[in-house]
Amino acid sequence: MTHLLHIDSSSSVPSVSRHLATRFREAWDESRPDATVTYRDLAAEPVPHIDTDGIFTLAAEPQTDGQRAAAALQSELTEEILEADALLLSAPMYNWTIPSNLKAWLDQALILGRTLPYVPGAGPLTGRPATVVLAYGGDYGAGSPNCDMDHCGPYLRTVLGKVLGYQVELIIASHTVLPYTTDDVGELEKAVTSQREAEAAVRERARSVASGLVRA
Ligand SMILES: Cc1cc2nc3c(=O)[nH]c(=O)nc-3n(C[C@H](O)[C@H](O)[C@H](O)COP(=O)(O)O)c2cc1C
Repeated sequence: MTHLLHIDSSSSVPSVSRHLATRFREAWDESRPDATVTYRDLAAEPVPHIDTDGIFTLAAEPQTDGQRAAAALQSELTEEILEADALLLSAPMYNWTIPSNLKAWLDQALILGRTLPYVPGAGPLTGRPATVVLAYGGDYGAGSPNCDMDHCGPYLRTVLGKVLGYQVELIIASHTVLPYTTDDVGELEKAVTSQREAEAAVRERARSVASGLVRA
């Protein structure tokens, strides 16, 4: 049985990143109707930010009810990641980086020796596909004036790819705020084109990941 972990994190409705993740899921379901999915909506049900109890359990056996609860949450999140053959993660850019609900999930789910390898790239997730679907209000593409302000895609590529070892594909819809900020048809076309290309890319990626994953 093939298993997908799907995480959404945008707080907006409608949301471009959620829309793209939904397009991925449609193509995925067509390609692998037998697959199972674990879904997390980090905006609707946020994972709590790591606190003193959660930090304690990273280094020692839990001693108190609070620490036991923190350890149970961390186990649940790490198991969800380890059980999944593939990861689909959607996120908006908020203030040039990932939303805090996604950072909270990473802080609770990346546990050294479990999901997080001692040697970067040499852990249990090495080689598994991760599809990261992002929505940016502006344009941070290569060569654009603000390309060095993107701390969203490069950060996730580092953590998921370089550290956890996933085979990461980033698919980004840019210029998403233009429909709210301009009437200029030429400018608006940038948002339309970017979203159309991202939709085609997520469908293609879903088919390609689904066809490459066969588990007894
Ligand atoms: C709190 C907040 C912060 C944002 N910060 C940025 C930003 O730093 N750079 C940017 O290009 N767009 C920014 N935006 C715009 C979003 O990236 C854009 O609306 C994107 O489409 C959000 O993804 P979503 O449509 O999946 O919700 C911000 C939006 C919000 C609500």
